[in-house]
Amino acid sequence: MKGLHRLEYRGYDSAGICLVNPELTIYKCKGKVSELEHFVKGQDVSGTVGMAHTRWATHGEPNQINAHPHISQNKSLAIIHNGIIENYASLRSELMNRGYKFVSETDTEVLIHLVEDIQINEDIELEEAVRIALNQVIGAYAIVILSKDNPNKIIAARKGSPLVIGIGKGEFFVASDATPIIEYTNNVVFMDDEEIATIERDKPLKIKTIKNKKKTPYIQKLELSLSAIEKGGFDHFMLKEIYEQPRSVKDSMRGRLNADMGIVHLGGIREYEQKLLNAKRIIITACGTSWHAALVGEYLIEELARIPVEVEYSSEFRYRNPVLYEDDVVIAISQSGETADTLAAIELAKSKAATVLGICNVVGSSIARATHAGVYTHAGPEIGVASTKSFTSQVMILTLMALQIAQEKGTIARSRFHQILTELNTIPKKIERILLLNDQIQEIARIYKDVTNSLYLGRGYNFPVALEGALKMKEISYVHAEGYPAAEMKHGPIALIDDQMPVVVIATKKGSYEKVISNIQEVKARKGKIIAIITEGDVTVKKLADHSIEIPETEEMLVPLLATIPLQLLSYHIAVMRNCNVDQPRNLAKSVTVE
Ligand code: F6R
Repeated sequence: MKGLHRLEYRGYDSAGICLVNPELTIYKCKGKVSELEHFVKGQDVSGTVGMAHTRWATHGEPNQINAHPHISQNKSLAIIHNGIIENYASLRSELMNRGYKFVSETDTEVLIHLVEDIQINEDIELEEAVRIALNQVIGAYAIVILSKDNPNKIIAARKGSPLVIGIGKGEFFVASDATPIIEYTNNVVFMDDEEIATIERDKPLKIKTIKNKKKTPYIQKLELSLSAIEKGGFDHFMLKEIYEQPRSVKDSMRGRLNADMGIVHLGGIREYEQKLLNAKRIIITACGTSWHAALVGEYLIEELARIPVEVEYSSEFRYRNPVLYEDDVVIAISQSGETADTLAAIELAKSKAATVLGICNVVGSSIARATHAGVYTHAGPEIGVASTKSFTSQVMILTLMALQIAQEKGTIARSRFHQILTELNTIPKKIERILLLNDQIQEIARIYKDVTNSLYLGRGYNFPVALEGALKMKEISYVHAEGYPAAEMKHGPIALIDDQMPVVVIATKKGSYEKVISNIQEVKARKGKIIAIITEGDVTVKKLADHSIEIPETEEMLVPLLATIPLQLLSYHIAVMRNCNVDQPRNLAKSVTVE
């Protein structure tokens, strides 16, 4: 149960547990892990081999029947699964023709009937039956299978969806990520795609591929502390993670930036530095918040390093046969390192011989391993489903990358380079100052907590900030929010503005400051309410705005590192006041391992 709670951020539609004691005993129900906990109270939950699952529904609504584990027809096998079996419909009708009855609408149930069918017909070991079954499967999976006839054995396999095995003293743990494991052991094996693990009581871990090739398990020591994945006195993980940002951006810079000596160096991409310097084009691919960081990266790299940059949604890029050359560098950004679309975009880029670099937060994740090289953000575990500290850390890494290339290419003057480096060092302290505005932001939230629509506007570097602010608002508070380049407003969204509409404008000094003031006037002329993020001491916008939040002055290109923070807090407080589940918003999951 504790393990399930730790993994709950990945999906929370329904939950279930299976124990070998000595039959396969299964309890499952709709809703969160706490519902399951309630459900099993007073039941016999003893056993030393078991598995549990918390689901994010793909096939079939999140109800008790569709909850995992699923059981084979002869009730001797049970499975939990993360991923999607794409050819489930054809496998299902084949199995139905052979007399199998399906009780759920899931793709997962197909797998367990298939394994049973193979095992019965061929009289082979469980792991061999699983191997044969997986050779017939198209799609993505991380699975665990238990068998009542093999009570001391667990079979686990992965393709496309992550799976980690923890090796303790006389005990094993299998999970989608390391968070439920680190409490018990730091020794882990990250499984690779198309690998099957056989875990047996009192025996060493065995791994082979679905092509039947033996592999030697590679045991890694994880550096992850328990406190990093707990709330530490905060009401929500999201709030804790917002407050961690002075530390997390510092950790992203640590060992990579020395302002006094004028050095920026990202060790992870050392081998590919020449590729970056010679790149005719950089393509950054990502989803969601990471895509917003990519947009900031586009502005930074083009301004500083003078290399053309394109930013692509991974889900579009992977399916539209993009033009890619060998001298293109593709940068994939992902907090979780598991986003299915981003992984597929990476594979596509690699198949066209492009160099692919990663910017990931989760160490050992699939994307970190699929890319040629990369940089970890070192933001620390992010448990709240809404990305906060990951965004600022990703932007920090992109800033360092742009500066490093610019310095090597000679596209930046030495004095300017020093100026930006010195300013970067001040960012953590400036974030601390913004966090002191929490009470003021909470008051603004109170005024607008009941709105149904909102607009976020920004220009230049603040345009991606507007998009990110709007995403935070809609995903955790369910208030419709649109982010727009401020000047585009008059091409459509201005029609939405009336005296009920809050318009959040990022109107910091520098850049298109004057132009943004004109955009504010346009909103005011239509009676819209202005919440402005302004530079400390700015009286001009303060006079125009209904509310203003003052953030410390910085370089224009570094403003996203600061201006995003009050927007995170604003959406957080509105969500809390609307009684929304901040850390686990409806319909969402932290790692989107399905396309
Ligand atoms: C928004 C959010 C999502 C993720 C997106 C990509 O707050 O969390 O939009 O940014 O699902 O996830 P990663 O970065 O893990 O690839």
